[in-house]
Amino acid sequence: MRISVIGLGRLGLVHAAALASLGHTVVGVEANTQRVRKILDGTHEMHEPGLVELVRTALTDGTLDVTGEPSAARGASAHFLTVGTPELAPNEGFDPSYLENALRSLVPSLQPGDLVIGKSTVPPGTAAALAAQLHRESPGAELAWNPEFLAEGTAVRDTLAPHRLIYGVSSLEAARLLDEVYAPILDRGTQRVITDLATAELVKLATNAFLATKISFINTIAQLAATSGADALQTAQILGADPRIGASHLNPGLGYGGGCLPKDTRGLAHYAQRAGAIEAAQFFTQVDTINAAQRQHIAEWVIAQLSGHQDSQVAILGASFKAETDDIRESPSIALAHALMSAGLRVRIADPVVTASRGEDSRLEFVRTAEEAMREADVTLVATAWPEYRRLNPAALLPMVRRPLIVDTRHCLDSEDWRNASWDYRSMFNLSLH
Ligand SMILES: NC(=O)c1ccc[n+]([C@@H]2O[C@H](COP(=O)([O-])OP(=O)(O)OC[C@H]3O[C@@H](n4cnc5c(N)ncnc54)[C@H](O)[C@@H]3O)[C@@H](O)[C@H]2O)c1
Repeated sequence: MRISVIGLGRLGLVHAAALASLGHTVVGVEANTQRVRKILDGTHEMHEPGLVELVRTALTDGTLDVTGEPSAARGASAHFLTVGTPELAPNEGFDPSYLENALRSLVPSLQPGDLVIGKSTVPPGTAAALAAQLHRESPGAELAWNPEFLAEGTAVRDTLAPHRLIYGVSSLEAARLLDEVYAPILDRGTQRVITDLATAELVKLATNAFLATKISFINTIAQLAATSGADALQTAQILGADPRIGASHLNPGLGYGGGCLPKDTRGLAHYAQRAGAIEAAQFFTQVDTINAAQRQHIAEWVIAQLSGHQDSQVAILGASFKAETDDIRESPSIALAHALMSAGLRVRIADPVVTASRGEDSRLEFVRTAEEAMREADVTLVATAWPEYRRLNPAALLPMVRRPLIVDTRHCLDSEDWRNASWDYRSMFNLSLH
């Protein structure tokens, strides 16, 4: 099938290349011309395991074309909208204008019978409004919603082998066309659920809000463990072993970040507020507040540790919001760095893939390696669980720092190794924060 994908960001590029690998002929339309050029010449900076190879193969064998020209979508039968839905402002809800503009740019290329499929994350009602827009501007085409559940760091795998596919559709023809798109995935027995537009929209937001809630929940329990003498990590493990609860998203630590969980949880709170569901709005707002408090607690503790010391330096290991991605959108690590710098501390931040140019903040001092960040450091904070930090040699690092104090906010180091090498190793939850 010929397919267009509008918006080649972290979701869209993976989706376009994955559909090409499934045997479709895909044209990706991207408004940012610099990004188009970088995708075509193989220098796009997105760090996502398997993505470079997937895109290169699809471009080389001609199953994927990438362009800035919306009219290139003409001739495709399925058109995926994968543009961003950022917040209008913090706690102000989602901005639908990228979707509206993408749809408007697509309309001249649509033929009767074409299916436009939203993949972006939106509050219920957005798809219905876009369907009305489509009905006015291109009456023969139809709109469906097929939310995406990929996680950054495993985006290629999640796209090619999803847990299930959700079709929000208004007709069986739309479901049939989506079945054709995903035929190789469905043939492997992948579950697909057919539902209406609003349910498809809500299921996606609810999923992210639930995952965020699990993270904030375990962080509140870990705080209680710290004040009660219980073991925070073991408590989390025991809870996670209960099949009714499940272990995913139950690692206490610095909290969540990225382009999805924070925005989607606040977006659901905003949607609930507008719907008059006040308790629901307060609930999701509180999930977000607890998340922000994690980094604030750590920042306050570090500032207190270093008060009275001149020229104190902090090393932060990890800039991306989690390992295996270069995404620093709402990264807890970057927020922590800002809080420490505001208190007058010098902060060096290391990351294996995020560099100063991607950091997009000239005030932050980015270095490549942990060793560079830790030189003369008074406190070292592990903020992202990159595998390379697990392999650090604590004995070799000891002479480099001013003070051998390390706080593992992701609980990814071997505490015994560090303590045996004379480091003052602290888990995030034995800091005496209160
Ligand atoms: N990143 C994820 O892990 C993920 C996972 C699931 C769902 N989502 C959702 O997918 C959507 C996209 O997220 P993202 O992270 O890929 O965002 P992104 O900002 O990385 O990518 C959006 C891309 O769309 C392009 N664009 C905007 N308007 C356009 C237009 N009219 N025509 C062509 N291109 C246009 C932008 O230039 C950008 O490259 C959001 O709603 C997000 O919540 C993201």
